[in-house]
Amino acid sequence: MRRKTKTKRRRLPSELMQVQESLAAKKRLIESELKRLLLRDASPLSRVMRYAVLPGGKRFRPLLLLSSGACFGVPPRPLLPFACAIELIHNYSLVHDDLPSMDNDDFRRGKLTCHRAFGEDLAILAGDGLLTLAFEVMTGADVPADALPRKQEAIWTISRSAGVRGLIGGQVLDITLKPREITRPKIDELILKKTGALIAAAVEVGAILGRARPAERRAILDYGKNVGLAFQVRDDILDSHGTKKTGHRERPDYVAFAGREKAGKRLLDLVRSAVDSLRPFSSRAEELRWLAVSLLEPEREAVRA
Ligand code: IPE
Ligand code: IPE
Ligand code: MG
Ligand code: MG
Repeated sequence: MRRKTKTKRRRLPSELMQVQESLAAKKRLIESELKRLLLRDASPLSRVMRYAVLPGGKRFRPLLLLSSGACFGVPPRPLLPFACAIELIHNYSLVHDDLPSMDNDDFRRGKLTCHRAFGEDLAILAGDGLLTLAFEVMTGADVPADALPRKQEAIWTISRSAGVRGLIGGQVLDITLKPREITRPKIDELILKKTGALIAAAVEVGAILGRARPAERRAILDYGKNVGLAFQVRDDILDSHGTKKTGHRERPDYVAFAGREKAGKRLLDLVRSAVDSLRPFSSRAEELRWLAVSLLEPEREAVRA
């Protein structure tokens, strides 16, 4: 892809503040809707489910979805069920990812992992509960009759991204690929499935519900794939600096594969490509641009450390 532009407009601090404020408002909306959904669930397991989701992480995927929708003029409210569903799926995947038979991690988001706090049996069931709730929330989304085909396509997109050809397939590669079998296409495939699929689905759903034209949809998907790859490369870089720890050191890891320096360069390239993909949207994509560039921040910190 050709990059570089002659007319690179400098963004004013006030514009950047507006983007940050808008993202913060979206995050507050996501938090309160997740809380509402999890309080509404009255099962005895709901305490464990709440522990897994609240207070949460960055909410990166639902923010991507709402910001993608904003590119096409869709306000946050009608997008919320899909954004929260993706976050619920993400949280279920983390609960299961941390289990002793998977990554065997004791801590997540600064507290004990779900199975360490409540036992493996309840952690598995809480993960199942979150995944199932996601489908209840999406299918229950109230949309006007003429939007039903788009709702169906959004649910299909999210389901496929979470399934065997997406997140679950990626997790299978994660536990089966031996370090010596890892090549660049293999590790990219793994990342695109385990982490990229849900991230790409988040931005794609914004485009679907925003009635994007085919070329816009391709551009958004290109952005999503680059951000998905960048996200995991960044996570592996953070891991390599000891910010995080996993019980299974043998798992495929971009830094172990390429080395820290090349991983840092790849991250930069991926973020650049993601930002390039947003060119057709000009100023409508400021939030998506910001979210992609924000992936470089911890890298800078890590490099300084
Ligand atoms: C962690 O995801 C797992 C990966 C796919 C790398 P996040 O970094 O989005 O975790 P939270 O939700 O912010 O805690
Ligand atoms: C988690 O990947 C990906 C999914 C849960 C699908 P990692 O195992 O690399 O992420 P962390 O380091 O546990 O957050
Ligand atoms: Mg894992
Ligand atoms: Mg893990």
